Amino acid sequence: MDLPFDGAISHYYRKEAPRKVREAIEQASGDEILDPSYPYREEMKKKHYAEQMAGLQRQLVRLQADVKKTGKRIVVLFEGRDAAGKGGTIKVVTENLNPRVASVVALPAPSDREASQWYFQRYVDWLPAAGEIALFDRSWYNRGVVEKVFDFCTERQREHFFCQLPGFEEMLAEDGITLVKLWLNVGRPEQLRRFLAREQDPLKQWKLSWIDIEGLKKWEAYSAAIEETLARSHTAQAPWTVIRSDDKRRARIAAIQTILRAVPFEGRKDGLIGTPDPALCGGPDLWSD
Ligand code: ADP
Ligand code: MLT
Repeated sequence: MDLPFDGAISHYYRKEAPRKVREAIEQASGDEILDPSYPYREEMKKKHYAEQMAGLQRQLVRLQADVKKTGKRIVVLFEGRDAAGKGGTIKVVTENLNPRVASVVALPAPSDREASQWYFQRYVDWLPAAGEIALFDRSWYNRGVVEKVFDFCTERQREHFFCQLPGFEEMLAEDGITLVKLWLNVGRPEQLRRFLAREQDPLKQWKLSWIDIEGLKKWEAYSAAIEETLARSHTAQAPWTVIRSDDKRRARIAAIQTILRAVPFEGRKDGLIGTPDPALCGGPDLWSD
């Protein structure tokens, strides 16, 4: 495949990345966590992960049965920077589920027509019906972050979004939809390490877009937009769960635990699900740049 940005990530890594970020990558071994502020030094062991995940997968299947039987409607938002692990986490959530029940919503950039509509309108089309779980890989929160960083919307449009947001999310809850908002938080060296790996892997190159390349240089702008977005959208009615995702395995477990604990369902075993690790998972106060 002829990529327009061939080599752009490694070029950035060699020539432009802050020295601290480059050194963190250079000096680390394979399963070492790069971010010094991350509470663990190494990835979770594969065996331990597999054991815990097996129990969580069985609970997801019980959740699915209950959702079908009782007609629940569930929305899970997956947000986070590029390469934070949204796509991979969603894959693990859906692994053993029926795609008719648990569907993934990953909308492309809005068309001209969509861009002229009420901002939330195209997302409303994908909200679940009874017995469905909609997993959003990015969501209406694009207006809070990527659209701000890349000037895809005006300041006025963004203010209007924040103004309508609490009402919109309250309407979902008031109508009986369970809304779970997950923000995956990846550190800067780990994000770059994942980008470098994607650039090298013909099976993963498709995940890279020009936004990822340009976004590398906009780390701080993203940080500011994320911080503001979390502060303005963490409400009692629709709170965020921030999950530190430098270790994919721990993040996937915490994400599934959070989803399972957000919904009462027949056969739920809290002891088996366990509590999301408070060192990795919490409110916006856990978000670190
Ligand atoms: P992803 O990380 O979801 O694979 P990208 O990193 O390429 O995709 O883009 C990030 C987000 O920015 C996507 O949700 C995409 O739809 C959105 N986006 C891209 N171009 C525009 C645009 N012109 N206006 C609004 N949103 C856009
Ligand atoms: C992720 O890994 O967070 C996203 O789903 C993919 C991306 O970063 O483009």
